[in-house]
Amino acid sequence: MKFKSSKTKRKGHSEDFFGTYRDYWWNKGFLDLLAKRLELSRHHSLLDVGCGQCHWSRLLVNYMGTPAQVSGVDNDRKWAREEAAIKAYFEQKGVEFDLQKGDAHQLPYEDDSFDLVTCQTLLIHVEDPELVIEEMLRVLKPGGTILCVEPNNLVQSLTKSSISVDDPIDEILDHVKYALLFEKGKKKLGQGDNSVGDLVPGMLAEAGVENIDVRLSDKAIAMYPPYDTDEQIATMEQWRKGSSWSTEEFNDYDYFKAMGPEAFEFYEEYQRRYSNKGERIMRYINAHKYHAAGGALMYVVSGTKPD
Ligand SMILES: C[S@@+](CC[C@H](N)C(=O)[O-])C[C@H]1O[C@@H](n2cnc3c(N)ncnc32)[C@H](O)[C@@H]1O
Repeated sequence: MKFKSSKTKRKGHSEDFFGTYRDYWWNKGFLDLLAKRLELSRHHSLLDVGCGQCHWSRLLVNYMGTPAQVSGVDNDRKWAREEAAIKAYFEQKGVEFDLQKGDAHQLPYEDDSFDLVTCQTLLIHVEDPELVIEEMLRVLKPGGTILCVEPNNLVQSLTKSSISVDDPIDEILDHVKYALLFEKGKKKLGQGDNSVGDLVPGMLAEAGVENIDVRLSDKAIAMYPPYDTDEQIATMEQWRKGSSWSTEEFNDYDYFKAMGPEAFEFYEEYQRRYSNKGERIMRYINAHKYHAAGGALMYVVSGTKPD
């Protein structure tokens, strides 16, 4: 069985994750520091690979030198269509902007074209992250900056909340096992490793990148009653809508199927046993009894292309 896309409106890749809450992914102080460390004001041209709706380049452009030029590339036709609002955002800043449809494994740009080549949560979705990094470096000017922002998404299955704090060990292990099998199945189907962030510094080193610098974003969206800050409201909205890593082609079902009959049996049992997990969280939130620190592991890895 294959995941059927909505008949009414086609969903773009990662669309469930593009809500307002994505605007709260970064602390401004951290971005200010990052811009200083990377001397972003000396960069005038930027390529955002796997740009989606350009949430990442819309933030970075505020730190670039003038004149600035931003290019975005994405292989999903929905995100590779120029949206008036995104174009207007860059235009009102006096920034030249263009968008292309293209595969990150074979970028549609000349060698040595950009001062800064960056991606945010792209490498976790590609079949061959090493090749994508090679391509990012090919289109980067010598002396230019490569900047990859990629997570480990597994850790979230071990973080605690006021609800899960007393869960039996077997239940916690079930959640970890689900996350691991899901990740392995996704990778096996060529849909990327959801925790590839752990490996990105080594991949950059292997590709010959110099001055490698590895940091962690200091963002955490803590949830606690009465959940009334802007970022908590946006996060809650995201949770209510639900989100999944499904694409037009694949969803959880396919990832577990790919891992063999035993994994698939576990998947069915897991669905039966924990089908009310989301509802339970909402019930506790409504009763103002849910709280969690909201930590995540988002690596910020940068380096320089040798001259
Ligand atoms: C999780 S989204 C991140 C979007 C954006 N970077 C952001 O942070 O908001 C992943 C994006 O990568 C794109 N993508 C996935 N595989 C790709 C590939 N092989 N080449 C180009 N884009 C790709 C998807 O279409 C999607 O827009």
